[in-house]
Amino acid sequence: MTDVAAEPRVDTLMQRVLDADNRHDPYPLYARIRSRPVFREPDGSYVVCGYAEVSALLRDPRLSADPVNSPAPVGPGFSFLNMDPPQHDRLRRMTMRHFGPPNDPGRVEAMRPHLLTMTTSLIDALKGRDEIDLVADVAYPLPVTVVADLLGVPREDEPKFHVWAEAIVQAADRDPRDRRPSEGIQNALVGLGGYMMGLIEARRSAPRDDMLSRLVHDDGPDGAMNPAELTTTAILLLLAGHETTVNLIANGMLTLLRMPDMMRRLREEPGIEIPMVEELLRYEPPVHMTFRSTLADVEAGGVTIPARSAVRLLIACANRDPARFEDAERFIPDRPNNQHLGFGSGIHACFGAPLARLEGQIVLRELARRLVAPRLVDDPPPYRINPALRGPRSLRVQIEGVVD
Ligand code: HEM
Repeated sequence: MTDVAAEPRVDTLMQRVLDADNRHDPYPLYARIRSRPVFREPDGSYVVCGYAEVSALLRDPRLSADPVNSPAPVGPGFSFLNMDPPQHDRLRRMTMRHFGPPNDPGRVEAMRPHLLTMTTSLIDALKGRDEIDLVADVAYPLPVTVVADLLGVPREDEPKFHVWAEAIVQAADRDPRDRRPSEGIQNALVGLGGYMMGLIEARRSAPRDDMLSRLVHDDGPDGAMNPAELTTTAILLLLAGHETTVNLIANGMLTLLRMPDMMRRLREEPGIEIPMVEELLRYEPPVHMTFRSTLADVEAGGVTIPARSAVRLLIACANRDPARFEDAERFIPDRPNNQHLGFGSGIHACFGAPLARLEGQIVLRELARRLVAPRLVDDPPPYRINPALRGPRSLRVQIEGVVD
């Protein structure tokens, strides 16, 4: 029987989740935290970790994603990720028109050949090496190039674009509790913002076959976005699209390298990459937590969260809730119920999910197929500091060759 008096308080356990030393394996801590699906931290903020509660609160209109509603307001949301209805819904709808059904149903599927070509050339470049870093060599360059191509960033501008993207990645790699403005991210955002504005103007006079041109020339029922909206939306797509996908690929390879039987299945069973990526999004999600503020008193898990409270929703903890998933701590790609929260839920549910899924399926399958005898050099690998966007900083792997 558990000695309740000896068990640390859940809020203390939460501090340990945020501690960088525990980044490599927060799951035992999550399992203990889950004894209370909703709890208050000493600073007055709330943590929500049960599946039923996280899922309900992600869909509850009494929770705001706009930082102006937080107990310590930091100015209005920069992009629609941090806006509430109706502004959020309008901008999301206008962007979605050019990315998926019903207006543009074939957009993501049409990217499949291009994704495979990019993956092939990144893996071809590993030939002749006996040690690789899967983050720097594959997981990072692929999503940045994919989203740049989607938006219509010309290939010749990519070096410039990569410098800003890299600076933003580095600045993002810190504890989200640290709310001091980071000079690196400010400079990169200004640089990228100026660049995007230039590109938007260029596409206005000379449209091309890319998403930015379609956004600029939109004639849909919501009218047109203004230049500031176009710029922030383009930057949102760039940022939301790559930090996360890097972690899907890196966490995915780490998981498979630790489970040779799963790596073999991915090599041998056609179609297994689809449920395998879903299970990775449950078992090792790239986004561990997201943040909201309550606009009214909200009851969850038997606790009343007062209005104007900061709320931390622990997606990764909810994804392993045994009340929702059988054998929740085990990696089971064939599980019958996999309604994970890896892409969030409700009005902010991931916009890029179809593209992220396709990227993950193609790249993990190709790596499993082509790398000969891959072995982890460091286990656990070094992790990024950020507890919300959790993933390895590098993933060194020894290989005995690369097949075609
Ligand atoms: C494996 C990769 C990815 C994961 C795990 C992921 C995860 C998420 C999650 C959890 C949210 C909800 C955040 C919240 O509720 O606060 C979100 C939102 C979003 N994601 Fe993704 N994402 C991924 C890839 C992408 C890609 C490739 C794109 C763009 C092409 C993208 C664009 C967005 C956007 C625009 C939002 C905001 C949606 C809104 O506020 O309505 N994501 N993502």
